[in-house]
Order: sequence, then structure tokens, then C-alpha cells
Amino acid sequence: MSQGTVSAGGVKERVAKIVEEVDSLPSLPSIVVKLIEVVNSSDSAAEDAAELIEKDPALTSKMIRLANSAFYGIPRSISSVTSAVVVLGFNTIRSLVLSASVAKIFDGKHALDMDRFWKHSVVTAMSAKIIVRHLMSVRMMDPESAFCAGVLHDIGKLIFSQYTAEDYGAICKYAREKKIPIVEVEEKIFGINHAKMGKILADRWSLPLDLEYAIVHHHDPENADKASHLSNIIHLADIIAHDLGCNLWDEEVHTQECVKCRAELKIGDADFAKIMTNIENSLDKSQEFMAMLK
Ligand SMILES: [Fe+2]
Ligand SMILES: [Fe+2]
Repeated sequence: MSQGTVSAGGVKERVAKIVEEVDSLPSLPSIVVKLIEVVNSSDSAAEDAAELIEKDPALTSKMIRLANSAFYGIPRSISSVTSAVVVLGFNTIRSLVLSASVAKIFDGKHALDMDRFWKHSVVTAMSAKIIVRHLMSVRMMDPESAFCAGVLHDIGKLIFSQYTAEDYGAICKYAREKKIPIVEVEEKIFGINHAKMGKILADRWSLPLDLEYAIVHHHDPENADKASHLSNIIHLADIIAHDLGCNLWDEEVHTQECVKCRAELKIGDADFAKIMTNIENSLDKSQEFMAMLK
């Protein structure tokens, strides 16, 4: 895009209108809202979650298919939603249902290549989960929360891509041609980047706060005063996904480097090498999760 196209034509105003009229953005389906409540409540049973999920036949079949895929590597066959919830756990079910719902909510016409977008998100999620598993011996963290945050970390891009498709298409083209990180171009042209836009949506959807912090601070984990570990983990996982070629376009530029957040998470070279091997060996499995999003 020419600089003229980028800065002219009330682009900032159009984006500001989306932010102002946040209530006109899609809401989460009630089944997902209820499921998050069930997952967060200490006295919920697997049947409570299963009962909700079974109301949605498409979701039910996706869940059973994924539960039986190599993605989770469960050694026995799962034929009911209740056993899927029991075997996979509440937090995994929350990731599945949230991811599938978000993909469905944003299934309109997009400026972004959606296959590339979801591949980047799912590989970030998988990397985040592997990092947390690696850190678990020293710190109690939930790998599934990290997975969920990974899937959702760039959700702000979906709003830009679907609701301001033409402007965002021009932003992508500019970032690509000038080899500038897209987050910088968004900030300059829209006056808000996708991390902040994602926070607005997370707020509207009342997503758990740890997810919200990770979404808003995945590009600046140093500014996260709460849930900073998760922000650092998503930041690192995001960089890894980029480095593995899971980008919005070939050779997409991202300025982040991971030395600081690796130091923050106390991941030395030997540990990092192990994490990378694990992630590279798991890449194929990400396809199965992506298939559920379609
Ligand atoms: Fe991002
Ligand atoms: Fe990202």
C-alpha cells in the first residue's frame, strides 16, 4: 500500500468506531459462557460439561474426533463426550470449545490467509504447552491454560481482518513490502495494535484474566505486572512459531528476540534445545487440531 492509502481516508476513525461500539462485536455463544463457568466451578462434574457440549452436535463430533486423534495420544478409544471430559480434563475441554467457537465466530471474509493464521496460532499454542510442561518441575502452571492463551493470543487480528478487511489488507501489504512487524504498522495506522484489540474482546467475553493478560502483553511481557509468566511463555512461543516458518506470509518480520524472556523464565541453552526438539517433533500433530477449526 502506498503511505497515502495508509494514512488517509479516516482509517483511525473507522477502527475507533469498532472500539467504541464494542457491543456490536460478536458475543460468545451461551454454551461457551456456561462451559467456562462450569470449568471454573470447583463442584462441577464431567457430566455438567458434557451435557452442555452435547447440545451442539457439530461440536460434539469435533470433540470426539479430536479426542481420538494422535493430537492427545490417548491410548484408548473415546466414544462419549463425558469420557472425553474425564480423560482430557476440564481445561482441555475449555481450550477445545473456545477455539472451535472463535473459528466459527470469525468465519467471514478476511484480509488474512486464515490457514496461515490458524497454523501460527495452533503452533504457538502447542509450543506454549510444551514450554510449560518443561517448566512444571520448577513451577506449578497449567499447560492447558498456556495452550488456550496461545490459540487466542492474536485474536485481535481476527477483528481487524474481518471488520476492516480492506484497511487491514493494506496494512499487511505495507508491513510485508517494507519488512516491518505488523504490530508496529497497526499501532501507527490504526492507533491500536492487535494485542490491545484482543484485550477489548477478551473483556467483552469475560475470558479468564490470565488469558486476557497474556493476550494483551504477548508483545510486551515486560509490562505485564500480573500473570507475567504466562505472558512471557506466550511471547516465547510466538517467536518460536515465527522461527519455525508459521507466519502470516513467508519471511514475515518480527522484531522480538527471546533472550530476555528466556532469562525471565530461566530457560538455559540446553533446556531450550530440548524444548525445540520436542516442538519440532510435535508439529505434524498441529494439523489435527487445525482440522477441528474448519
Ligand atoms: Fe501478536
Ligand atoms: Fe502471534
